[in-house]
Amino acid sequence: MRADPTGPALPQIQEAAQRYSENARHKLAGLIHEAGPQGLPFARWMHAALYDPQAGYYAGAPLKFGDTAAAGTALQGDFVTAPELTPWFGRSLARQIGPILAHIGTPHILEFGAGSGALAEHILQALLPEFPQLQYYILDISPDLTQRQRQRLAPFGDSVQWLHSLPSGFTGCVIANEVLDAMPVSLFEWGEDGNVYELHVINKPGEASAVADPQAGQDNQAWSHFDFLRVPASALLEQAVRARMPALPGYRSEINLQGESWVSSLGQWLNQGAALLIDYGFPQHEYYHPQRSQGTLMCHLLHHAHSQVLHFPGIQDITAHVDFTAMADAALAAGLEVLGYTSQARFLLNCGLLQMLSDLDPGDTAHYAREIGPVQKLLSEAEMGELFKVLAIGKNVDMDLAGFATGDRRHRL
Ligand SMILES: C[S@@+](CC[C@H](N)C(=O)[O-])C[C@H]1O[C@@H](n2cnc3c(N)ncnc32)[C@H](O)[C@@H]1O
Repeated sequence: MRADPTGPALPQIQEAAQRYSENARHKLAGLIHEAGPQGLPFARWMHAALYDPQAGYYAGAPLKFGDTAAAGTALQGDFVTAPELTPWFGRSLARQIGPILAHIGTPHILEFGAGSGALAEHILQALLPEFPQLQYYILDISPDLTQRQRQRLAPFGDSVQWLHSLPSGFTGCVIANEVLDAMPVSLFEWGEDGNVYELHVINKPGEASAVADPQAGQDNQAWSHFDFLRVPASALLEQAVRARMPALPGYRSEINLQGESWVSSLGQWLNQGAALLIDYGFPQHEYYHPQRSQGTLMCHLLHHAHSQVLHFPGIQDITAHVDFTAMADAALAAGLEVLGYTSQARFLLNCGLLQMLSDLDPGDTAHYAREIGPVQKLLSEAEMGELFKVLAIGKNVDMDLAGFATGDRRHRL
């Protein structure tokens, strides 16, 4: 979950993290230098900041996801996601995935961006008794996280396999929790002249060869070694922006073209099945609402949420909310059907989360509170229940999906 408390004060950075970030900064500064005076389009900078194999956030060894269950009350990592909060998330999802697998007669699941492997573990535990032949595939672009998944999921043996690239064909259920929000986005701004500009990232003067300052971590401002440069948008980006919103001078936001291509590709390689895409975001008219004039880019560092994207490269997560209308449009254009769209709370309730919880003994107060507390976060409108949505897209699936039985909001996309 990325809705961690936002505070004006950013945390103190440990020395090892400072060194990692300095390394990332040098790497990024070098890439910008190579790109020339116009620097790097923000999407390319964000991709390197998150996924560079040596310097990216998702390549680094430090723990990224807070595992409150393992850590007791202390939060670890930079943010916490639903599967890290509680196994009830995966158990609920399994109640939607199971009927899909039974309907298509192929017990195959493909999870994108499996993080620590927590969701895979919970789904495998829930579904293996019913589907002993279950094959769980994982595709994650982070080698570090893939390694962690291999360790965590070793007890499941050959039931879990890792893919290195998109499959040429797949029949089964695809899942992606908080993956679209982690894809690099293009940043744009409307000019006073009515034109669309793209934001590139450049080195501040003299920074490409700057010597690392060991005190830099003590002064958060000193970590901003990059700057934005506005350049005329490419025809593709300009067209995409104009199709989504009217001209609003000074308005800045982002577009996840990579996420849209990823959804389009699903139309090619998914032969039969459904994909459940879970993330925080809104339909397009809310995404590009005039009041959201600074977009949705957000960073997560040690459970602080802030918007200084150019700071702390390599050690902070960078994310953008998901424009679910754009994802649904990409799906339709690629020959997929939109099977359902609703809030996370409604989806989990429709899947029978409360019925499952009714088996818990409220008399065992300590255990009950431990189980129920994180579930409340998943469901609460003020936390993850409403901001997070579930979009189901698919092909050749002629069945009603229980997760959308009530509160389906496809008409709002
Ligand atoms: C925010 S983490 C979410 C992890 C996990 N799904 C969870 O909910 O805890 C984003 C994950 O997506 C992966 N990722 C990002 N882009 C990806 C892509 N194009 N294909 C596969 N994995 C991707 C990252 O490496 C990371 O594991």
